[in-house]
Amino acid sequence: DKGDFEHFMLKEIYEQPKTIEETFRGRLKPEYSEIVLGGLLNVFPRIMEAERIVIVGCGTSWHAALIGEYMLEEYARVPVEVEYASEFRYRKPVLTEKDAVIFISQSGETADTMAALHLAKEKGALVLGICNVVGSSLSRETDAGVYTHAGVEIGVASTKAFTAQVTVLTMFALKLAKAKGNIGEEEYQELVKELSQIPEKGKQVLENNEAIKQVAEKYKDAVNALYLGRGYLFPVALEGALKLKEISYIHAEGYAAGEMKHGPIALVDDNLPVVVVAPHDAYYEKIVSNIQEVKARKGNVIAIVTEGDKGLKEMANDVIEIPKSHPALAPLLAVLPLQLLAYHIALLRGCNVDQPRNLAKSVTVE
Ligand code: M6R
Repeated sequence: DKGDFEHFMLKEIYEQPKTIEETFRGRLKPEYSEIVLGGLLNVFPRIMEAERIVIVGCGTSWHAALIGEYMLEEYARVPVEVEYASEFRYRKPVLTEKDAVIFISQSGETADTMAALHLAKEKGALVLGICNVVGSSLSRETDAGVYTHAGVEIGVASTKAFTAQVTVLTMFALKLAKAKGNIGEEEYQELVKELSQIPEKGKQVLENNEAIKQVAEKYKDAVNALYLGRGYLFPVALEGALKLKEISYIHAEGYAAGEMKHGPIALVDDNLPVVVVAPHDAYYEKIVSNIQEVKARKGNVIAIVTEGDKGLKEMANDVIEIPKSHPALAPLLAVLPLQLLAYHIALLRGCNVDQPRNLAKSVTVE
């Protein structure tokens, strides 16, 4: 049931403050300074001993995995590798019992992800799942796991499942970081508190819907689009580009902003919209100079900025604000305007946003 919404995708975008909260409810306990992931209890000692964590997924789930990699390496200080399931399953990866492999899948039925799971199991690795569909193949065949509590996702373009996956990965990274003694108590507390505030801040982002719609009007006829971000926001750039291409059929590419000079800058001209995820964080100065480079070549910059940012308001063609947050949690806020932008552009182009051509919600054949 779409309720008051015109499409499932829009409904699911708007559900995110609630679904993020559902995903951490009962697990995130700021007052006890503890994160409870019941599904991992029995295997936690093995996770602690793992020499490496590998995270495997496809599409949007793979983007969530990249954010998980950054968090796990920064805070838990465990080496992490992220793999496309379709590559992993065929490329003879080195795997041992000392590896913990996390499989991320909304549906829990993706053929490549399941095949990768079977391979990892065969090699004796600890296999864990982050999955949305209760009782799915993935949830049955992993050694242990954590459910995302996003609720049923109907739109083919994944939205609320993504933010729920990132929420689980955040809790997992913080729990492991604390257990390993690799994060200071103060920073841990701050992150736990900030995560608990994300739903409120997410609501504020969604209030910009009208402004985002106006930006969509301006760029709806674009043929190509570029999305840039750094650090935790590089995977968000990839995700923003995927959302746009899959539902509006505009060719879009996501790039780590620092890679611009190594190729994509050649694309920039006065027809190219460049979406830059540029909140106030340690990379701010760097990303501002990337924006200047795009502007110098007459590209149109749509910047996602931290509330109150004045500099970029003058520099960029369009600005969409998100509330201030901890840099590691910014993906949960920054992805929302990108989902809405893709939605409105697709709608203005007359596309079927819930059921884009050539795509299936669950890719059960390779
Ligand atoms: O169900 P899964 O999370 O395993 O699905 C993975 C991808 O097929 C999925 O994320 C796909 O890329 C979405 N259409 C993205 O919006």
